[in-house]
Amino acid sequence: MSKHTDAPRRITARDIATRKGGEPVVCLTAYTAPMASILDPHADLLLVGDSLGMVVHGMTSTVGVTLDMMVLHGRAVMRGSSRAMVVVDLPFGSYEESHEVAWRSAARVMMETGCQAVKVESGEGIADTIAFLVDRGVPVMGHVGLRPQAMNVDGGFRAKGRTQAERERVLREAMAADRAGAFAIVVEGVAEDLAREVTAAVRAPTIGIGASSTCDGQILVTDDMLGMFEWTPRFVRRYGALREAISAAAAGYAADVRTRAFPGPAESYLLKPVD
Ligand code: KIV
Repeated sequence: MSKHTDAPRRITARDIATRKGGEPVVCLTAYTAPMASILDPHADLLLVGDSLGMVVHGMTSTVGVTLDMMVLHGRAVMRGSSRAMVVVDLPFGSYEESHEVAWRSAARVMMETGCQAVKVESGEGIADTIAFLVDRGVPVMGHVGLRPQAMNVDGGFRAKGRTQAERERVLREAMAADRAGAFAIVVEGVAEDLAREVTAAVRAPTIGIGASSTCDGQILVTDDMLGMFEWTPRFVRRYGALREAISAAAAGYAADVRTRAFPGPAESYLLKPVD
């Protein structure tokens, strides 16, 4: 067996699991190698979310995202990072049918990307699958509350917990994922009191998105946080204005090309002729 190198060790599922009630876990989405390399020093966990279907590929939901897409982007994020834990989403249709199908999808994602864990949107019916995967060596992150892959059942992307029945369901989903061995659980689109109740009820750290600061960590879609879109959900805080910055840069480039101000002498080759 080869000796260990001095390369920094990646944060592991176990490290994240021990952060319950401690220093909040910093998570962001990443889909490409350059973005992963920028985020890597700052984030504990990079999620290759199936939100990439909407953010990168212009889809209207995550339902059409394939395992091939997740593998492609997962490999890029692994190449771009060295410190943060990398988790790849199992997309719609790749894990719900049976334990065996889920196992094949998870094993493929882990073997072909080198990522350390997968995430599944975990209604109560998926808890058994989480236990099956964890028992076979796949760390699993759960995802309860607003589950984007269920948008066709829910009638859109709707925050959860308006009725008592819905609140109880979110709580049951989180507790089932926890009992099944999820190392962390994303809690999306729920009010603060429900997020607090879920966080208190589970052993695993909860990672909130639109779920208040009572969770054990937070995640945002990086492109939302950077201000890449004209519209952002109300739970997003913009830490940048990249859309405006990119637009201004493109306008400057276009103006310079049209007036022949670009390229200038500094951007042109001045090659000395050789005999
Ligand atoms: O797909 C995704 O990016 C996600 C996060 C928003 C939690 O599931």
